[in-house]
Amino acid sequence: MNIITLTADGSNTLFNETIGEHYHSKHGALQESKHVFIEAGLKHVAANQREISILEIGFGTGLNFLMTLEYAVAQNLEVKYTGLEAFPLEMEALKSTGYQQYVPENIWNSLENNYLNALKAPVTLLPGQELSIPHITLDQYQSPATFDLVYYDAFSVQHQPEMWSDEIIAHTCSFLKPGGTFVTYAITGKLKRALKSNGFTIEKLPGAPGKREMLRGTKL
Ligand SMILES: C[S@@+](CC[C@H](N)C(=O)[O-])C[C@H]1O[C@@H](n2cnc3c(N)ncnc32)[C@H](O)[C@@H]1O
Repeated sequence: MNIITLTADGSNTLFNETIGEHYHSKHGALQESKHVFIEAGLKHVAANQREISILEIGFGTGLNFLMTLEYAVAQNLEVKYTGLEAFPLEMEALKSTGYQQYVPENIWNSLENNYLNALKAPVTLLPGQELSIPHITLDQYQSPATFDLVYYDAFSVQHQPEMWSDEIIAHTCSFLKPGGTFVTYAITGKLKRALKSNGFTIEKLPGAPGKREMLRGTKL
């Protein structure tokens, strides 16, 4: 059961009762999405390339996707977005977040009209913008394609430790191209060591409000 909850920046998130955690920072869902995934991830990669493939771990409500699509359309980027999701939400749950108010109508409509199809196969939402939402757990996921950017947005290590094991981080890293970027809201010594042992350089960046630091890794 997911309960809609207001966060400190006025945007909503969902509280997952089974896991015991929110889908986003309670200090601000929208702020966190923009700070961690758009500012530190997408803009960083878009500085050097216009065609970007993204793998998100935990598609959830689609907030990171909506922010990405809005930025990609505004900046003429071509984005192929793969949002893994073990427990896809109903479209009604996505609508209940109120995230429609943060993006232009055509961006929201393209997600609303294509969400169910994207759970089955890749869909072109808008020219140059592709979305697929594989309904699978991360440990079972295999991909013939590799990606330019990983948004690692799993529930926290306290609530879902198996999503932060050395094995699952190595598995995720294997999907990145050389030179690819890994961003996440979290930063721990264990995560840094896991990324380094998979051939990454690490940057500590200022975290979203409520978190001192976040992590960006680059695959050598
Ligand atoms: C922190 S929330 C992600 C929030 C999401 N990025 C958003 O913008 O709403 C974590 C997500 O990971 C999903 N998840 C949990 N276990 C998973 C697994 N083993 N493989 C893939 N996704 C998983 C949850 O269902 C949830 O949607």
